[in-house]
Amino acid sequence: VDIAGFQKDLIGWFEEEQRELPWRKDQDPYKVWVSEIMLQQTRVDTVIPYFNRFIDQFPTIEALSSADEDKVLKAWEGLGYYSRVRNLQTAVREVHEKYDGVVPNTLKSISTLKGVGPYTAGAILSIAYGIPEPAVDGNVMRVLSRILSIWEDIAKPATRKVFEEAIREMISHDNPSFFNQALMELGALVCTPTSPSCLLCPVRDHCHAFHEGTQNELPIKTKN
Ligand code: ADE
Repeated sequence: VDIAGFQKDLIGWFEEEQRELPWRKDQDPYKVWVSEIMLQQTRVDTVIPYFNRFIDQFPTIEALSSADEDKVLKAWEGLGYYSRVRNLQTAVREVHEKYDGVVPNTLKSISTLKGVGPYTAGAILSIAYGIPEPAVDGNVMRVLSRILSIWEDIAKPATRKVFEEAIREMISHDNPSFFNQALMELGALVCTPTSPSCLLCPVRDHCHAFHEGTQNELPIKTKN
């Protein structure tokens, strides 16, 4: 596999075609964190106005730490899954108190924070800090299952590790942020769940499924 060519085609496409999204304006770890928590169970178009209002109201770790919980819950109203924002405020308070307001930059420390699982940890480390950690969610598994022809069931919790290991072999160390975000963006814009737009895909020459014509059979996903 031509890893360098894949990285170049993927990141080059992202540089040209990425959507302008409010959490892409800077690399503030706090804003990356808030956006990734919101995006976990909610679509991008819905998240945008919530993200903007939330950051206006609670612009920093300090501001969210000292905010009343009812104000924070109110700002989340409509997004659902309220444990997400309760955990976020708990974790932000811990960063404020234990890390002097600086989001930790190691996988080990960041993973101890409430509500920060492997996906969120990898997203913050790569996007905010430029650390080459995988950030594997369902979209990334779909994209990679096609590119690498991985026929494991993505509904099985153990499968995430297979993808993480694959990404560790492929991730750009020059630009892990764009590498991970490009995989997410490709999943959103091109390598969609049904009828992927392979003819528009910047990495179709690197894609095993496109080569074999199996893009509509992948990924394998049993239960919901
Ligand atoms: N989905 C999850 N994280 C995302 C991000 N950073 N940009 C766009 N979509 C996403």
